[in-house]
Amino acid sequence: MTDVHPLARPDGRILLIGCGNLGGALLKGWQAAGLPPRAIHIVDPNLKADTLALPATNVHRDIAEAPAADIAVLAVKPQLIEALAAGIDAALSPATILVSVAAGVGTDRLRHLFPTPGAIVRAMPNLPASIGQAATVLYADITTGSRARAAAAGLFELVGSTDWVADEGLMHAATAIAGSGSAYIFLMIEELAAAARALGLPDAVATSLARNTVAGASAMAMASEAPAASLREQVTSPGGTTAAALQRLMQADGGLGTLLKQATQAAAERSRELAGT
Ligand SMILES: NC(=O)c1ccc[n+]([C@@H]2O[C@H](COP(=O)([O-])OP(=O)(O)OC[C@H]3O[C@@H](n4cnc5c(N)ncnc54)[C@H](OP(=O)(O)O)[C@@H]3O)[C@@H](O)[C@H]2O)c1
Repeated sequence: MTDVHPLARPDGRILLIGCGNLGGALLKGWQAAGLPPRAIHIVDPNLKADTLALPATNVHRDIAEAPAADIAVLAVKPQLIEALAAGIDAALSPATILVSVAAGVGTDRLRHLFPTPGAIVRAMPNLPASIGQAATVLYADITTGSRARAAAAGLFELVGSTDWVADEGLMHAATAIAGSGSAYIFLMIEELAAAARALGLPDAVATSLARNTVAGASAMAMASEAPAASLREQVTSPGGTTAAALQRLMQADGGLGTLLKQATQAAAERSRELAGT
């Protein structure tokens, strides 16, 4: 068996099942990364082919119309999976690698619902996939071989960073950090802008400063080898303005650290509830 990534073959084919918020972000990212339109097929009941930069023949309203795929990415809402499983499974082949991005649906459940595909991988990406900057966590059990793992990871490396966890229980934590995490940073931008307005800055300036400050700090953290704590210390003169703010943000009880731990624990707990574990 060849080690060439399935999508590097001229006839390699990916099937994206569900093209909503996350599926749409993955599609945009794959297209920007150069995946040829002929390689991507989509199944979603309400999509219009002319908005997707894909041939009309690659956009399907019904899974029964879709061709066999090397990799099928399951990106529908978790609560729909049970009802759709039989129809989806019938469209897969033993050569298909099924990659599920559904929060909280475990490998055992997926295997039960999808007996046909030869390999199953779980992935928890996030919306910055649309600009090639997703952070994706992957998990597969020991029955999934290295070729299928590499093929699944390759798909997400096209749209950002990838990390594997060896314990499926950690996918709840991955969901709380990566899957949901972009929302925390968007909230940070919203609240920084609101704080700027409260200090008297005009709306447009407040919005611009909040977005660009988060973007600049993120880019600097990525460009630097230094840990984030060192970068923070570089901005903080003893007795200065930053120190005055950090004293409040870093207080042991009720500071940002406490809040983030509580928030991510709530997200992980909700992921466990959705999984029924
Ligand atoms: N959003 C995120 O940031 C994020 C992050 C990590 C993981 N996820 C996971 O990604 C999955 C999708 O989440 P989402 O936020 O992208 O949800 P979403 O926006 O609702 O997208 C789901 C898409 O599936 C479509 N769909 C419905 N029935 C279908 C069918 N029979 N066949 C094919 N497609 C069908 C929906 O169409 P209609 O809208 O017309 O029903 C919609 O376009 C979930 O399992 C979620 O846990 C999401």
